[in-house]
Amino acid sequence: MDLSLDRVEGRHWAAAAQAPAAIRAISLSISRGEQVAVIGPSGAGKTTLLQLMAAALKPVGGQLTLNHQDPWAISTAALQRLRGQLFYAPQTPPLPPRQRVITALTAGRLPALSLLQSVGQLIYPREPHEAVAALEAFDLSEKLWDRVDRLSGGERQRVGLARALMSPASLWLVDEPLSALDPKRARQAIDTLNSQARARDVTLVVTLHQVDVATSRFPRVIGLRDGGCAFDLPAHEVTQQRLAELYAQHEHELADVAGPRFDLPTEPTPPKIVHCR
Ligand SMILES: Nc1ncnc2c1ncn2[C@@H]1O[C@H](COP(=O)(O)OP(=O)(O)OP(=O)(O)O)[C@@H](O)[C@H]1O
Ligand SMILES: [Mg+2]
Repeated sequence: MDLSLDRVEGRHWAAAAQAPAAIRAISLSISRGEQVAVIGPSGAGKTTLLQLMAAALKPVGGQLTLNHQDPWAISTAALQRLRGQLFYAPQTPPLPPRQRVITALTAGRLPALSLLQSVGQLIYPREPHEAVAALEAFDLSEKLWDRVDRLSGGERQRVGLARALMSPASLWLVDEPLSALDPKRARQAIDTLNSQARARDVTLVVTLHQVDVATSRFPRVIGLRDGGCAFDLPAHEVTQQRLAELYAQHEHELADVAGPRFDLPTEPTPPKIVHCR
């Protein structure tokens, strides 16, 4: 799926009236099959940007299009069809307690089924091979019949990611998929997401706190700061200086990152917000 944002502004309905917009005039376009990481300090607007891209939050300014359609200007039926082509994975997957892993996974394809098929599929899940394959991809095949509330936080997070593989979507929007995973599992999970997205020609947008994963595993990295776009660059152009500016006054968020250490200036320069391409 193609995605385009033209000076898009995002504001949460519950935000205080005087609060600045969570996303301020962001312009960017992402082509079908691209793999993009979004980084930035806590509160920068990463989740809000994904919610806008998922047509879950209506922009308060500018224009957003998905496959050249403005999701907020089409019929309800067309919007529903469009949403069926999106897979949005919130940081904490909404997996109901007592549900089995198989049911949670099969739910990933519900947008593509009729109401009757959906209900049948939830009561008597059939054809579990795809679910098994999706779990295998995340090293969880023995958990198919387990209850989701008996999984560890990291296992639950990986079940949430395995749902992407079950969905018929052509755009995967994944919010902080690695927060509950150890560094080895985190790399495996991101490699699986990337390779599966590439194999299916799916557009992949992932928000990350792990800067080293973003720059080593994604060809393109977008840096957000205070709701604005600080940079939008090929990964090899994301220099330590740019990262230092992006995380100025938030250096502790870089300190937890495994992998290369960044030499942060002792007197951080204020970030210069530059326009995204
Ligand atoms: N539901 C909400 N209602 C009101 N304001 C919100 C809501 N969600 C986020 N915000 C505000 O929008 C801004 C951006 O938040 P967002 O969750 O997009 O940041 P983030 O970059 O995802 O941060 P984190 O790394 O902590 O997940 C913040 O100032 C936040 O307080
Ligand atoms: Mg977030």
